[in-house]
Amino acid sequence: MEELQQILDQALRQFAEISDEDELEQVKARFLGKEGSLTALLKGLGKLSAEQRPVAGARINQVKQGIEAALQQRREVLRKNRLASQLAEESLDVTLPGRGMGTGGLHPVTRTLQRIEQLFHSLGFASASGPEIESDFYNFTALNIPENHPARAMHDTFYIDPQHVLRTHTSPVQVRYMESNHPPLKIISSGRVYRYDSDATHSPMFHQVEGLWVDEEISFANLKGVVQDFLKRFFERDDLRVRFRPSFFPFTEPSAEMDMSWSGGWLEIGGCGMVHPNVLNHVDIDSEKYLGFAFGLGVERLAMLRYGVNDLRLFYESDLRFLKQFK
Ligand code: FA5
Repeated sequence: MEELQQILDQALRQFAEISDEDELEQVKARFLGKEGSLTALLKGLGKLSAEQRPVAGARINQVKQGIEAALQQRREVLRKNRLASQLAEESLDVTLPGRGMGTGGLHPVTRTLQRIEQLFHSLGFASASGPEIESDFYNFTALNIPENHPARAMHDTFYIDPQHVLRTHTSPVQVRYMESNHPPLKIISSGRVYRYDSDATHSPMFHQVEGLWVDEEISFANLKGVVQDFLKRFFERDDLRVRFRPSFFPFTEPSAEMDMSWSGGWLEIGGCGMVHPNVLNHVDIDSEKYLGFAFGLGVERLAMLRYGVNDLRLFYESDLRFLKQFK
């Protein structure tokens, strides 16, 4: 009986000293395991007399329950301690500044396009669109550029097949729109166009914004007024220097090219003119009654001037150091 009491005391003392959960399980084996001291006593029960056996058995069981209860209690304490220190370790300082999210931005050409569209919309122009893979007919013939006309050579054209091209300009949208709408017409059309061309001011894919205004009393003065007003608003400058230089396009008469001062010289930003009667006649608009002007602006050129970029190809090299400056 005395030994039993000692075992119980020992167990309680040793459990109380342990601060590691694994160690606790090992120490438990010293008392309750196969080779444990309590187990040894149980095995020895057989040697006792029939009267002593039940008394001793009952006491051993009592001690066993006492050890198990102490064990369970200690387990619980150690589990709670572990949880508490884990929580302390993993706690978040919510007052620390955030790491920040890297966000993208619109491409400078997209921003320029949006700005151009917004300004023309505010002048009452609606938007129209056309396909990038265009028939030879809309890209050239309907614009008064018949087969074998030397003006075809001015466009370094990508042919898809003998009848289809990657459109070389946005002017075919004029024809498509006039075919299915009657004057008065006042539209812009923006999008990608393609030419076999590459240097500091030319890229093989670039963007144009086409403008078309057809009505009974439209003159070249209206064309100059609209374009100049647009450019002043686009560049936010009243003293802007724009030059209209006489030029030639088969689909306009008279025709002009527009230049803006750039790097001590001039940079061509677009072509324009009064819609040629042949183009109007082709779409059954009475060229005696209606007049119209049209223009085609190079979007990358406007972006270069607005942002002070000296090589247009930078827009298409996907260099983040360049693109990040426009966020
Ligand atoms: C035309 O494309 C005519 N369709 C414009 C037009 C429309 C005239 C309506 C009359 C009436 P042009 O080939 O000049 O014209 O091109 C127009 C503008 O696109 C140029 O002034 C220039 O700003 C831009 N551009 C031309 N080629 C490239 C290129 N490879 N890369 C970047 N911009 C270009």
